[in-house]
Amino acid sequence: MNDKKEVRLQKYLAEHGVASRRSAEQLIQDGRVSVNKKVVQEMGLKIQPGKDQVRVDNQLIGGTVQLRYILLNKPSGYICSAQDDRGRRTVLDLIDGVSERIYPVGRLDYDTAGLLLLTNDGALTHHLLHPSHAVEKTYLAEIEGYPDNRAMEKLRRGLRLRDGWTAPAKANIVRRKGTTTWVELTIHEGRNRQVRRMMEAIGFPVQRLKRTKLAFLDVKDLRLGEWRELSASEVQRLKKL
Ligand code: URA
Repeated sequence: MNDKKEVRLQKYLAEHGVASRRSAEQLIQDGRVSVNKKVVQEMGLKIQPGKDQVRVDNQLIGGTVQLRYILLNKPSGYICSAQDDRGRRTVLDLIDGVSERIYPVGRLDYDTAGLLLLTNDGALTHHLLHPSHAVEKTYLAEIEGYPDNRAMEKLRRGLRLRDGWTAPAKANIVRRKGTTTWVELTIHEGRNRQVRRMMEAIGFPVQRLKRTKLAFLDVKDLRLGEWRELSASEVQRLKKL
């Protein structure tokens, strides 16, 4: 944006989603709008976006938005969108005290737990989700039974799903407990329900799924439902991936 360019106050308010141009004029007439802490009631005042501070009912409009980077250990039973037409809980319900409009970087299924990054930094989101950056994601999947070497090799080499072959992946058995097995799978693609579909393709549908890592990040220090802000150096590292 060119900071030197002046715009009319009512246009600025309308462009920042405060109100339609006409209702913005009403807000001004009602004395609810201030510029640089002085109430403005006359029409037609021009302001410099990025320089002048415009407030409606004392709330700053269009100020510089603070970039937020939140690492959440998502419990299963939450959806990864801002709203749900079926009224289910969303991951945003777990994040208190963050007023910026953050959103998840990629998605975890409703019934998947684990590492979820949320931010309002569109450039970083784009960077992390872009296939050419091949950011690694690691999952732990609990399955019934015990996959043999051949099945594990299929995961590693790539297998055919309805939307095409999967790229080579890292796959290891980490634990056997009773009749179930925990498989660790590291992929760098981000197709819809990819891990569940890969496990199904080798004949072992997933019973429980959690994401344990995204690149160098993990959620070992967070209990389910807990979150923390990324440090500045973690953000820098993500940007360099
Ligand atoms: N793969 C899946 O199948 N589900 C997820 O939530 C994430 C990856």
